[in-house]
Amino acid sequence: MQPEAIDKRSLPQHVAIIMDGNGRWAKERGQDRIYGHHEGVISVRDVVAVAGEIGIQYLTLYAFSTENWNRPKAEVDALMELLVATIRKEVDELHKKNVRMHVIGDFAALPEICQKEMQEAIDITANNTGLNLILALSYSAKWEILNAVKAIAQKAKEGVLNPDDIDETVFHSHLCTHRFPDPELMIRTSGESRISNFLLYQLAYSELYFTPTHWPDFRRAQFLQAIADYQQRERRFGMISEQIQSTK
Ligand code: IPE
Ligand code: IPE
Ligand code: MG
Repeated sequence: MQPEAIDKRSLPQHVAIIMDGNGRWAKERGQDRIYGHHEGVISVRDVVAVAGEIGIQYLTLYAFSTENWNRPKAEVDALMELLVATIRKEVDELHKKNVRMHVIGDFAALPEICQKEMQEAIDITANNTGLNLILALSYSAKWEILNAVKAIAQKAKEGVLNPDDIDETVFHSHLCTHRFPDPELMIRTSGESRISNFLLYQLAYSELYFTPTHWPDFRRAQFLQAIADYQQRERRFGMISEQIQSTK
C-alpha cells in the first residue's frame, strides 16, 4: 500500500499503538527476545517516518508498561539500554524531521540515564511543529487515573476546586495526556485483543485495530493498511447512521 491510497481529508489526528509481539517474533526465529526488541526499533523508525509523511499529528507508542517492570531483570535492563541507545541515535534525525518528543508515564521510575536522555530529546525538539511523538514509558492507565483523582481531591480539600465544577474538561486536564486530543485509532499488533492498561480513559471512543502481525513485521505498509481500514469505518458516537450521513 502506498501513501497516495490514504484519504488526507479523513486522517486520524492521533494514533496510539501497543507495540506487541517482539519476544514471540524472535522466538519463532530461534533468537533471544532482545533480538526482537532490536528489530522492533526499525518498525518504530518506519512508522514514525510514514506517520509524519502522511500528516498524522500525534503518535503515541506504548513502549514500556508499569507491569513490564515485573519481567526478568535482564530483559528490563536490556530494554532500558535499548531505549537510551535509540534516543541517542535517533534524536538528530527526529529533529530534522520536525518531530516533537513527549513522554507520558511515571518518568521518575526510569533509570536516571534514561530520564536524562529523554529530557534532552524533549528539550531539543521542544519547538518542532511536525509530528508529536509521545512515548508511554513506565505508563499504565490505572496509575494515570489514580494520580488525576488524587490531584483533584487535593485541590478540592484545599478549597481551590469546587467538586461541582469537576467535569470532563477538568478531569482531562489532570491526565498525562492533557496536551493531546484523544486517539481516534488504537492499533495493537501480535494478535492479542486486549488493552493492557493503556489509555483506558482516552480510548473511550477510539476505533480499535487488532492485527496478528508481530511488531517487528509492522512497517510502513502495515501502518498504511491500518489507516485505510480506519477510513472505512463509520464513527457514530451513539447516533444512527442517517444522522452521521446528513452531516457529511
Ligand atoms: C512488546 O513485545 C514490547 C514490550 C512490551 C516492551 P513483547 O516483549 O511483549 O513480546 P511478546 O508479546 O512477549 O511476544
Ligand atoms: C503491553 O504489552 C505493553 C507494551 C507494549 C509496552 P505486554 O506484552 O506487556 O502486554 P500483556 O502482558 O501481554 O497484556
Ligand atoms: Mg507482549
